[in-house]
Formats: sequence, C-alpha cells, structure tokens
Amino acid sequence: MVGSLATPRALELLRTVPLLAGLDKRHLRTLADSAAERTFKAGEFIVREGEKGLGFYLVVEGQAEVERAGRPVATLGTGQFFGEMALLDDEPRTASVRAKGPVRCLVLSTWEFWGSVGKDPEALRTLLQDTVRRLRGSEPALGD
Ligand code: CMP
Repeated sequence: MVGSLATPRALELLRTVPLLAGLDKRHLRTLADSAAERTFKAGEFIVREGEKGLGFYLVVEGQAEVERAGRPVATLGTGQFFGEMALLDDEPRTASVRAKGPVRCLVLSTWEFWGSVGKDPEALRTLLQDTVRRLRGSEPALGD
C-alpha cells in the first residue's frame, strides 16, 4: 500500500530515524513533503535481489528480514534503513528484503535520497559505517 503523508505526521516519523537526526528542519520538512509511506504484509517482498534499485527505505514500524540467495542474513527493525547499496553504486539490489510481520516504511526516491542524506556529511558517514558493517558481515574475507 502506498500513501502520501500529511506533513506533520511525516515529520514526526522522520524525527524517529537516527540516520536523519542531523538534518536541519528545512531538509526534514522537504523530505516530509515528498516521502511516501508504504505498508507491507507479513511475508511480502519489499525489494528483490537482482532488481534495479529505485528507492531508499526507512523502517518506521515492524521488522524485515534481509535474504541473500534465499538465506536470511540480517533482521532490520524500527529506525533502521535499507536499499542504500543499489543507490550508492547504481547496481542491482544485493539482497531481498521481506516483511517479517506487518512493516511500515518511508520510501525516498533516488533523487530525494541524494538531496537529503547525500547532502549531509554526518548522515552519509553513518550510512557508510552501517553499509561497511553489512559488507564485513556478509563477506568473511573482508572481516579478517
Ligand atoms: P540494496 O542492495 O540496495 O538492496 C538490498 C538491501 O539489503 C541492501 O541495499 C542493504 O540495505 C540490505 N543488506 C544487504 N546485505 C545486508 C546485510 N548483510 N546486513 C544488513 N542489510 C543488508
């Protein structure tokens, strides 16, 4: 399900996302105007491994499972994000992400992502730290 958000509610949700904590009010308001809210049912695929990546997802409620080649590799919950890798290198999705139970996300388009997170050095640093951790966890040779 896709819905557009009334700005005050979107602002409230965006403020709960640690990654965005450093964004100023003006940026947050712009994001709140444009971010879409999407809800997913238990078991539903949110993104699929190998597909082109068009969005960046912030989990505002619920838990999602990350699967590579059909195997679970991580669980992401409220306040966490996914979908950054395909936006960073413009390559296909590295994993599928599936709703464990009902999941609510805010979705930023590629353009919104680069205009907000991509412009904030603190947010980018946090994002890259998490991404590197994810890569270390999934590529044993990198974690040595
Ligand atoms: P992307 O490749 O765009 O789409 C799938 C997403 O799953 C990926 O971005 C990351 O956000 C996330 N992801 C991939 N591998 C892991 C991992 N090992 N741990 C946590 N999240 C991951």
